[in-house]
Amino acid sequence: MQEVNETTTGAQGTRGREKFATALGVVLATLGSAVGLGNIWKFPSVTGTNGGAAFILVYLACTLLLGLPVMISEQLLGRESRADTITTFRKLAGKTPWWIIGLMGFASAFLIMAFYTEVAGWIFAYIPRAFSGDILTTDPAVTTRAFNDLVTNPVSSLVVQWIVLAVVGFIIFRGVQKGIENTARVLLPILFLLLIVVDIRSLTLPGAGKGVAFLLRPDFSQLTWAGVLNAMGLSFFKLSVGMGAMITYGSYFRDDQNIPATASRVMLADLLVSILAGLAIFPAAFAFGIQPDAGPSLLFITIPTIFASMPMGRVFFILFSLLAAIAPIGAMLSLIETAVAALDGGTKLGRNKSLLITLAGLAAVGSLAALSNSLLADARLFGMTFFDLFDFITSNILLPVGGLLLCLFVAWYWGFDRTRDSLTNGGTIRNETLVRGFFFMVRFVSPVLILIVLLNGLGLLS
Ligand code: PHE
Repeated sequence: MQEVNETTTGAQGTRGREKFATALGVVLATLGSAVGLGNIWKFPSVTGTNGGAAFILVYLACTLLLGLPVMISEQLLGRESRADTITTFRKLAGKTPWWIIGLMGFASAFLIMAFYTEVAGWIFAYIPRAFSGDILTTDPAVTTRAFNDLVTNPVSSLVVQWIVLAVVGFIIFRGVQKGIENTARVLLPILFLLLIVVDIRSLTLPGAGKGVAFLLRPDFSQLTWAGVLNAMGLSFFKLSVGMGAMITYGSYFRDDQNIPATASRVMLADLLVSILAGLAIFPAAFAFGIQPDAGPSLLFITIPTIFASMPMGRVFFILFSLLAAIAPIGAMLSLIETAVAALDGGTKLGRNKSLLITLAGLAAVGSLAALSNSLLADARLFGMTFFDLFDFITSNILLPVGGLLLCLFVAWYWGFDRTRDSLTNGGTIRNETLVRGFFFMVRFVSPVLILIVLLNGLGLLS
């Protein structure tokens, strides 16, 4: 426990470590990690399949009671240790086995990237087609065929994934400030602008009101424990917590960053992006009588038919495809950065070699997901393809378990005094209620809730 004092934001652990340049840069880079396919691909599809507003309310509760406290915890630990996910626990907890949380996070980063880069690859592949307009048709049979042609071709499945890896690999190569922070600064405002433009189009269609009602009027009869597990998994996935991305980013935070305020802003802005994405899709879907409950294929099969139905659909489909391609970039940066930083911090390889090894590893693990609709379509574990399995075990098991262990670590090992010291930046931010409330959450509320949802959602209590 002695090590803690040595690393307390002093020169010791911070020497030579790159940091985000400005307080706004910290918020934007972190928001860049949170915003992603979670908002554009997962949120609308699980909301559609779980009955709309009721699901959103549960998701909101999970975000506030679980996601946010875990995000704050991770950022505190990262800033305190100024180290990657694995080294953080070695520094703060010495020879105890807590570092296994970091190791789990390292594994999660690979498993998430495996399917994430594939979905991002499909989106990239849709951009030229949005411009040419060849998939813009109101006939779902045609959009289904176009999507199937793309994903069942092993060569194109791998190539699109490699293109995505090359793009994000290059940004990471440029470093924490020039790469991650600057990219977020440029891309996030563009993303918001595009979303708002598409929202206006969707909301001004005749009949759009039914879609808005679907998003806002809760019907709890549709909700199941599996749906609640989904909501919890989504809240972790959305805020990029439970696997150490926020520990890694926290290690680049400035010493005077107000962490609770930063995390809350990121959470709210991310929620806004999800709602804006929902408003881009559901009102338009309902306006044309298209059922939006399609699940993961919603983005690629249903959405083109929605845009094909509306006036000036081609222009708006291009804008939508661009925003969908922009959204996941910051998230992928944080996933790769988590792995690269851990490899760099735990070995003598150096940053560039760690990056190359990570990219090679991602291409290897990623190919299992990329080929899930072609060569590996019959390779199933627990009835799922690798693609679905990686998605399910990371969102619904690894991230919640990681979050649970993190809460336990902060509340029961790290303890109240150090948490207060870190949360208040050594006493400069005075807010005793916040400190006590936060500590109570991570000590009792969040862990118990995570456990209940996890066990029930997996059917282990019934
Ligand atoms: N938050 C990202 C999204 O919503 C995904 C992500 C998960 C990124 C975990 C980093 C770590 O798309």
